[in-house]
Amino acid sequence: MSTKQKIHIFDTSLRDGEQVPGCKLNTKEKIELAIKLEDLGVDVIEAGFPISSPGDFSSVEEISKVIKNATVCGLTRAVKKDIEAAADALKLAKRPRIHTGIGSSDNHIKYKFNSTREQILERAVEAVKYARSFVDDVEFYAEDAGRADIDFLAKLTEAVIAAGATVVNVPDTTGFNLPFQYQEKIEFLVNKVPNIDKAILSCHNHNDLGLATANAIAGAIGGARQIECTINGIGERAGNTSLEEVVMIINKHPELGFYTDVKPELLVPMSHLISDTMRMMVQANKAVVGSNAFAHSSGIHQDGFLKESSTYEIINPKEVGADGFQSIVLTARSGRAALAFRMRGLGHEFTRDEMDNLYAQFLDVADSKKEVNDEDLKELALSFASAKA
Ligand code: KIV
Ligand code: ZN
Repeated sequence: MSTKQKIHIFDTSLRDGEQVPGCKLNTKEKIELAIKLEDLGVDVIEAGFPISSPGDFSSVEEISKVIKNATVCGLTRAVKKDIEAAADALKLAKRPRIHTGIGSSDNHIKYKFNSTREQILERAVEAVKYARSFVDDVEFYAEDAGRADIDFLAKLTEAVIAAGATVVNVPDTTGFNLPFQYQEKIEFLVNKVPNIDKAILSCHNHNDLGLATANAIAGAIGGARQIECTINGIGERAGNTSLEEVVMIINKHPELGFYTDVKPELLVPMSHLISDTMRMMVQANKAVVGSNAFAHSSGIHQDGFLKESSTYEIINPKEVGADGFQSIVLTARSGRAALAFRMRGLGHEFTRDEMDNLYAQFLDVADSKKEVNDEDLKELALSFASAKA
């Protein structure tokens, strides 16, 4: 029996991810993506913010009808009419969750709410109780927890759990924390909140300093059991924690003692689907799913990789559903072995002497281009064959 702890994967591509300018999805697109997210194996799908627009309401409603196993979640502010709209949109979901919350840092309390810690705590408790009157599963987010006073955060966490929250989300809304700070925050809550065993803690990290994934993993090490993330790390500003990074870190580091139910071989197809549907390109060097994530270009790396792939690859591209064929990128820095490998892939074999000759021609082409592609290789092979004849 596995002693590993499950990390619940909460996908918010359709809510936080969709907040990217120009990436608005219609209901049909959202339904298709939600079905694929369920196939991928995520535990929770945050389908939208029902009060925000009729389109978002209907997306949450329609997704609730088609999703069979995953929890479907709707976001709200700590406002009665938001909670009523979410409950209404989720009424046909098999496993509905209302995600309600309010700012928890002094910055948000003062500038966003012109309020006090006491009033915020009261509103939080009221919102959770109200949400619990509609559904059994209520997640509370303490917005900007990353910059909140830790004693107040602990008091708030205790109060919302007592009010019925099943999950407490600790968002680093501005992506400000360092991994050790975020881990300490979670550890503090785990150790100091008396009723913490009645709920699970959730990591929600933004990528403003490029630390979203590192912070989420640090939070899990600190005791959180849910990670909120998006495909390709899409989201507000610099984005959210990347789902694919979280899953592969957990898979590649069994010493963490975690597992997820995500099927890794579907990660790259899911990344393409999100990128195409949202019309948002994935940067080439993006970890796990970028087009260069498994591309080896320098001669030294190509030589090592062709002898034994583990010299320069910790993930086999097939594990994440990527086609490994283009793993050797041909440039003027590539060697003979790399050229022979790609030629073999196109059905052309050469003797050692022929390869010496061909390699000289290849370098002429490579010097005039950034990358030598299949078409160039086919032409090279053809002119080589006709010169021989
Ligand atoms: O970043 C954030 O704080 C959020 C909350 C609404 C959960 O997205
Ligand atoms: Zn967020």
